[in-house]
Amino acid sequence: MAILETFRAGPWGQHKYQLLKAAQEISYYYHARVTKRTWTTTFLVAAVIFFLWHFPLLPANFNRIANGRWCDHPISILASDASRGFNETLMRQSKSLEDAVTKYRRQYNMPPPPHFDKWYDLATQRNTTLMDEYDTIYHSLLPFWGLSPSTIRSRVKEDLSFDNVVMGISIRNGEPIHLGNGQGDFQGNAAMKQFKKFAQSYPIWTSSSTFTMSRGSLFLTRSYTDW
Ligand SMILES: *[C@@H]1O[C@H](CO)[C@@H](O)[C@H](O)[C@H]1NC(C)=O
Ligand SMILES: *[C@@H]1O[C@H](CO)[C@@H](O)[C@H](O)[C@H]1NC(C)=O
Repeated sequence: MAILETFRAGPWGQHKYQLLKAAQEISYYYHARVTKRTWTTTFLVAAVIFFLWHFPLLPANFNRIANGRWCDHPISILASDASRGFNETLMRQSKSLEDAVTKYRRQYNMPPPPHFDKWYDLATQRNTTLMDEYDTIYHSLLPFWGLSPSTIRSRVKEDLSFDNVVMGISIRNGEPIHLGNGQGDFQGNAAMKQFKKFAQSYPIWTSSSTFTMSRGSLFLTRSYTDW
């Protein structure tokens, strides 16, 4: 309207100038509008990408796998579940001796063996990750609770008197002593090295204590008098 009016009034040259000016104004506003729309669109696209990136609209069974990618492959689900389970197991581990004793009692319905505190200290010093795995302790000692010390000692003596690849170790005054030839120097030396590491901190074996190792199983015998 404004353009038509300016066109009607005044001489042509002026009209021409005013027309040009009006057109320029329209073009400016048009351009500004386009610019605004461009920015709005760009912002919206960026927002959608951001949203999808952080909150992917994926089925509920999609699992984040170890390297951070999303995947619903069954193996990835198994791996993810196992990783989560392991984390939970790590979180559950005993953080103190009292904790460990409580768990031992709950699991095996009996108190832990004497000097369990020393075992706990050693395990802590060695940064043991799975503290509450007491099955080896429990099952190694279990057969001996029902035998008298003299019976155990006589059986060990008998065991060591044959040429039967059985090796015995006795700890006296904190020093391990190798008994019998067992499976030759290799295993004997390795076992002695192992025992030397903790023999000092286990005065429970200062009296007559004997280990015999036979095909991976560990037999322990000792005089029960200092327990
Ligand atoms: C397990 O814990 C570690 C760090 O403690 C963490 O980086 C990892 O994402 C956790 N895994 C799961 C499946 O929760
Ligand atoms: C246990 O962990 C601590 C701290 O990370 C470290 O200084 C120490 O050397 C570790 N001990 C063993 C036996 O690995």
